[in-house]
Amino acid sequence: MDGGFRFFPEQASTTAASIDDIVFYLLAVTTVMTGLVFFLVLVFCAKYRRRPGRETGVQVKPNPWLEATWIGVPIVLVLIMFFWGASAYFPIYRAPSNSLDVYVVARQWMWKLQHAEGAPEINELHVPLGRPIRLTMTSQDVIHSFYVPAFRVKQDVLPGRYTTIWFEPKKLGEFHLFCAEYCGSKHSGMVGKIVVLPPAEYERWLSGGISQGSLASGGHRLFLSLGCANCHTEAADARCPNLVRLYGSAVRLQGGGEVTADESYIRESILDPTAKVVSGYQPIMPSFRGRVSEEELIQLVAYVKSLGPTRETGRDK
Ligand code: CUA
Repeated sequence: MDGGFRFFPEQASTTAASIDDIVFYLLAVTTVMTGLVFFLVLVFCAKYRRRPGRETGVQVKPNPWLEATWIGVPIVLVLIMFFWGASAYFPIYRAPSNSLDVYVVARQWMWKLQHAEGAPEINELHVPLGRPIRLTMTSQDVIHSFYVPAFRVKQDVLPGRYTTIWFEPKKLGEFHLFCAEYCGSKHSGMVGKIVVLPPAEYERWLSGGISQGSLASGGHRLFLSLGCANCHTEAADARCPNLVRLYGSAVRLQGGGEVTADESYIRESILDPTAKVVSGYQPIMPSFRGRVSEEELIQLVAYVKSLGPTRETGRDK
């Protein structure tokens, strides 16, 4: 990052420019509107001040065109805000399907970040240039907020559930990561950095860091040691749903309704198995709340994801 004074952080992600454009539009509209109101207040103060011979006010008949203008112009301006904002928000909300998965566990007062391939990091995240990165985040304690100003991304990280966000870096270098939600006495120290590397260098960094295998393989070990494999089999008469090709599919629930098998659903089904029982099965699964940590949950989720079909967990193209 270069030194020197700047009003805005650099635009280091693919979506940064579109967000800045909206901010500048909002700034322009609110500045002009505020200026206009103050200007008119001063003009009318002078023009309609109390003077001898004009002690009492007069009833003024409103001009319909003037009224239509001050109703119509602001409506158009805020509708532009709405549609522009929505068109920028939808692509930011949905991660591209070729995203690289990174899991984030926040706690007082550090960021634990983990790649699907298994390299864990603390307060530091290495990512390749030109590749969308999708973060699945949760907190072990209180609410934190994942904030990278140069990428224009900010998302609350909540205990007890997953939130997601994605970004695609378009500049090499190191960028500040902040916690943007007051989370206790050392909140201001809950900082880190995102290191954007050229793809080849990233591959080298990644292969140098692997020690305990991929997240999914760790999840598979847990799956066996917790006894999940006893019920979740591929047999036709299995007592529990088959997890192969589950991720991303639509699941029919007991009592009607359907849910998409995403990270949040898998997490909930491990911690609170009776919340959404799959149609045709009995609610016999015990809860694993308190028996698995957030890190282990992420491994289990990554394992179920690796069973397919919609997204690969590894280094796909
Ligand atoms: Cu974590 Cu503020």
